[in-house]
Amino acid sequence: MAQRCAHPVVPVALLVFGLVAILLLTVPTRDVREAPGFMYGIVLDAGSSHTALYIYKWPADKQNGTGVVTQHGECQAKGGGISSYVGQQGAAGQSLQACLDQAVIDIPKERHHVTPVYLGATAGMRLLNISSPEQSNQILQEVGQKIQSYPFNYRGAVILSGQEEGAYGWVTVNYLLENFIKYGFVGRWLSPNRPTVGALDLGGASTQITFVTREEVEDNRDLMKLRLYGQEYSLYTHSFLCYGQDQMLKRLLAHIVKSQGYSESIDHPCYPEGHSRVLQLHNIFNSPCTAKYKPSSYNPQASLTVQGSGNYEECLVYVNEIFSFDNCRFSKCSFDRVFQPNITGSFMAFSAFFYLHSFLQKITGLTVSSPSQLEEATKRVCRMGFSEMLLHAPDQKPYLQDYCASTVFVKVLVLQGYGFNETSFRHITFSKKAGDASVGWALGYMLSLSNLLPAERVELRKALTPGAWGGLIFLFVLLLTAVLIFIFLRARDGKKKGVSESTI
Ligand SMILES: *[C@@H]1O[C@H](CO)[C@@H](O)[C@H](O)[C@H]1NC(C)=O
Ligand SMILES: *[C@@H]1O[C@H](CO)[C@@H](O)[C@H](O)[C@H]1NC(C)=O
Repeated sequence: MAQRCAHPVVPVALLVFGLVAILLLTVPTRDVREAPGFMYGIVLDAGSSHTALYIYKWPADKQNGTGVVTQHGECQAKGGGISSYVGQQGAAGQSLQACLDQAVIDIPKERHHVTPVYLGATAGMRLLNISSPEQSNQILQEVGQKIQSYPFNYRGAVILSGQEEGAYGWVTVNYLLENFIKYGFVGRWLSPNRPTVGALDLGGASTQITFVTREEVEDNRDLMKLRLYGQEYSLYTHSFLCYGQDQMLKRLLAHIVKSQGYSESIDHPCYPEGHSRVLQLHNIFNSPCTAKYKPSSYNPQASLTVQGSGNYEECLVYVNEIFSFDNCRFSKCSFDRVFQPNITGSFMAFSAFFYLHSFLQKITGLTVSSPSQLEEATKRVCRMGFSEMLLHAPDQKPYLQDYCASTVFVKVLVLQGYGFNETSFRHITFSKKAGDASVGWALGYMLSLSNLLPAERVELRKALTPGAWGGLIFLFVLLLTAVLIFIFLRARDGKKKGVSESTI
């Protein structure tokens, strides 16, 4: 009688188990089948020295910032920045063509018309907008027209303000480091409650510093409040125009030319000893950044011989002089009468900061992880002859003459300017990528403009819909009950069997 009872339970349990297994299998596959792949977004980073195109992607079925945005592709446009094509009709637009063509190939055709494309221009265009607003508008229009000739969803070509550039860089860094939210296991979004990381960006024409501060920001132009994922962030951000690497080198040269009485041949202590070059004066005085060093009248075509002397101490003096550390109107300043709260927390230094830091490491063999090592490394670079540098970095030939000036500049900017010390300097990470994505303002810009960063907290969502979840729980209960009955009956049956077996 027991045997007759136990037997029907086994198939039922198996049946229920099978049903559960089928559900477990079908629920996710149905999701995957319904998920319409990826959505894409394009950002053109029109910097002062060149343009880069970034393609991002995120799962199409994830709304309101719950899908992880990753970098899908990257293209470096050949030639100079869009501002360098001033006066050449159509050239700025043309310079974007190869990268836009690449994006057409990289993004699935059926997604083209829903792919937003943004162009953001930075300090190179900010400078052109100062010296010639008409020409800068003309270039923006041209690049806008070029982008609109592609099948994407054009969302504008604009010049970012320095504050925007700084803040979007900070958003990028912290998004990539998963400091806002983190995708935990079993499909839940977690608020990691981690401190954010500050951003240090060094471009060709400007440099930005951005970090969260609890101090009062005494100049409200440098304050930016952001609400992301239900958290309020109070950011200090400042962009120093003319403190990008290329414009800084120009200003340094202009300052040296002026200090040496505008003579036809000057001694440049930051150039390697014995290295010389000839350039025309308009190459130095063609920028708003060098206006204050410009002679009242000069022949733009006149040539200037620059003779290197490789003298670290003299170089440091000149570099220091292009900063102004006096006349602060606030309780404290970084430089040039700009308010800055105390440095706090960790920082990520990217773009040219990363390249200069790597160069120092490579050429000196030092880790360059403390202020004293930074000083030691810059000293060594400044004392190196051109041919010795070339031996270490043959691919860098056109830039070698500038490494002493650039690295001394970084030292003065970061230590004297921003006020990093022995302790805080160690909390700077120099990187160009986080995961597979390039670090810069572009990702943060797209996240913000495409509403991929919600102001409010992301719901802790279950991996399954409530219906499927409830059904599964019901079946689990059924299965458990069936198994319990089965075990109970088996136990009873076993006792009887045990008795009969012993009799055999
Ligand atoms: C996304 O946000 C919109 C409006 O803010 C809201 O209507 C919608 O329900 C949200 N979707 C999800 C999946 O949270
Ligand atoms: C900022 O740093 C200075 C020097 O380290 C210190 O004296 C001062 O108390 C700090 N200010 C704040 C608000 O933390």
